[in-house]
Amino acid sequence: MNDRYQTLTSLPAVLRGGDYNPDQWLDRPDILEQDIRLMHEAGVNTATLGVFSWTAYERADGEYDFAWLKERMDALYAAGICTELATPSGAKPNWLAKANPEIRRVQVDGRRDKQGRRHNHCYSSPVYRRKVAQLLERLCDAVGDHPGLIAWHLSNELGGACHCPLCAERFRTWLRRRYHNDIDEVNKAWWTGFWSHIYTDFDQIDPPFDNGEQSVNGLLLDWRRFTTWNAADYLDTEIEVLRRRTPNIPLTTNFMSYYPGFDYHVLAQKLDFVSWDAYPQWGEPGHDDTDVAIRTAFEHALIRGCKPGRPFLLMECTPSLVNWHAYNKLKRPGVNRLAGLQAVACGADGVQYFQWRAGRGGVEQFHGAVVGHDGRSDHRVFRDVTALNEDLGRLAGVCGSYTQAGAALLFDWDSRWALEDAWGFQKQDKKLRECAVRLYAGLNRHGVDVEVLGPEAGWETYPLVVLPMLYLTKPGFAQRLDAYVRSGGVAVATYMLGYVGPTTLAHLGGFPGEGLKDLFGVTAREIDTLYPQDQNAAIWGDGANTPIVDYCELLELADDTEVLARYADDFYEGTPAVTRRAVGRGAAYYIGARLDAVGDERVLCRALRDAGLPDELLPDGIEYHCRRNGTERWHFYLNTAEKPRRVRLPAGVEALTGRPVGGEEELSALGAAVVREGR
Ligand code: GAL
Repeated sequence: MNDRYQTLTSLPAVLRGGDYNPDQWLDRPDILEQDIRLMHEAGVNTATLGVFSWTAYERADGEYDFAWLKERMDALYAAGICTELATPSGAKPNWLAKANPEIRRVQVDGRRDKQGRRHNHCYSSPVYRRKVAQLLERLCDAVGDHPGLIAWHLSNELGGACHCPLCAERFRTWLRRRYHNDIDEVNKAWWTGFWSHIYTDFDQIDPPFDNGEQSVNGLLLDWRRFTTWNAADYLDTEIEVLRRRTPNIPLTTNFMSYYPGFDYHVLAQKLDFVSWDAYPQWGEPGHDDTDVAIRTAFEHALIRGCKPGRPFLLMECTPSLVNWHAYNKLKRPGVNRLAGLQAVACGADGVQYFQWRAGRGGVEQFHGAVVGHDGRSDHRVFRDVTALNEDLGRLAGVCGSYTQAGAALLFDWDSRWALEDAWGFQKQDKKLRECAVRLYAGLNRHGVDVEVLGPEAGWETYPLVVLPMLYLTKPGFAQRLDAYVRSGGVAVATYMLGYVGPTTLAHLGGFPGEGLKDLFGVTAREIDTLYPQDQNAAIWGDGANTPIVDYCELLELADDTEVLARYADDFYEGTPAVTRRAVGRGAAYYIGARLDAVGDERVLCRALRDAGLPDELLPDGIEYHCRRNGTERWHFYLNTAEKPRRVRLPAGVEALTGRPVGGEEELSALGAAVVREGR
């Protein structure tokens, strides 16, 4: 991995720009000229070019044209606007698909796609790889040394899986390597005696088609791992050219928040920095925007944690609305600013939009854009974006700083996949995301920022670690957690901890498996899944009563495990629901049932005290994040509520206004304060 980039790119400023498609407007020089003028007016300093420009570069096989690109990059650069250049592999040309039908993806139903749409090529296809590599060589010839080029944006929103014969064969080869060419090792790992699904040759293994093998959990999990591996292997084709030809230009690609398809911890290893596209559903009836905000903050942390220690880029968000929600509501005034500042608060060094200018045709013609079809800069949306860009201009000093987190939250794609594919519990939606977001939110309410990390990462440096529904655990993890707690760490785990091992086989000897039951001093003997209309409650030591929904584990305790709450109802009334065990210099908490925020708060408050972290609550609706570099701290207070809130600010300079602050201040509804401390 290339560690040369302290900041994301060579630009010493928060990146402000978005997806820009001048290739769709080449017959309108007046519009191209207007774009530059308007970008300047909007305070834009970067443009993402070429995301889907393959046919604009190569209209027919081997007939390349990069003149328009070079001209546009020159014009942008002359106006002080740098380019993030995408590789155009996210959509394939018609001529290429016609000549090479095998590049079209085979979907999970076994049918090969017709040509059309995007994000649907076969990752294994040698033809596709070769054609992309050839194009990238020529792209590097044309603009690889352009002074305006500050980053490569690899493809676009990589995703999905191909089930073609070539991918199936590569899957089998991958399995042979993983299982030492021993089919019985596979049978054991996957428990294939179940329903008589024993394999006697690797050749019998197919991808899990939706009308094929869906009942072997280990196969499902390995297919997902393979799919990530294969996409990463495909990316290597692009990376090989770009690293060789432009070794000083950093590489990124845009992730998709809580996307289930790939293990982003694996893909991130290929990149210099991570980026993502955030499209939260602000203003959805029945959902409080404070909840939407904290869920987005969690997602920022999830993506940031894919590349710990380094800022990320918000590659895309909409300045106003999208076109693909069921109801495409406008962002209300103030929301875009708050969301943009939140991204920076959470570690982004750039806020970019999809899209700069609305196209005239195609399905995204009515998607929000900084410049709409009217082409006017006195538009509300254009003004909102310009105002936020002015704010971001005042935050240049945050670039390169990193989130100062007080706690870690463990999130593992393998565990998520194994849990989501498991038949049982709540079959359709196990609610892992809700569980993780609630614990994240509970800590943030105390002003504790949270780093979301994979179990393999270095979470031991945090005084508190939370483990929401960490269903699958790998060898060695329990020992690490045990050593962490003994030496003073505080662990808070929830129900469904350590049910299965790395190939989805259930741990024997009681849950949580692998020594975790000794650490927490609990054994989950059974788990009760509640119907939506069912409710239980937790009765706490002081007599308080908080609701329980979804899951109740029936716990057996070790002698030295303290009970914090017991079940109020059902045949397990009076048995333990929430526990704490003092271990060495630390403590291990176990939440055996799905509590509400008040119940979680009772556990977190005590755990925070154990960990020496602040246990005082911030006012309702105030989100807090902190970034730090060697000399300064940047405290972000975001008011996600629709009412003004009073908040106590640390002493320093409020960076958006330049005012000295310290002490209590009022933040307007959707307002924010950024306090710079130290220097
Ligand atoms: C993203 C995608 C963009 C655009 C946008 C619309 O997922 O990367 O190309 O389609 O959605 O919201």
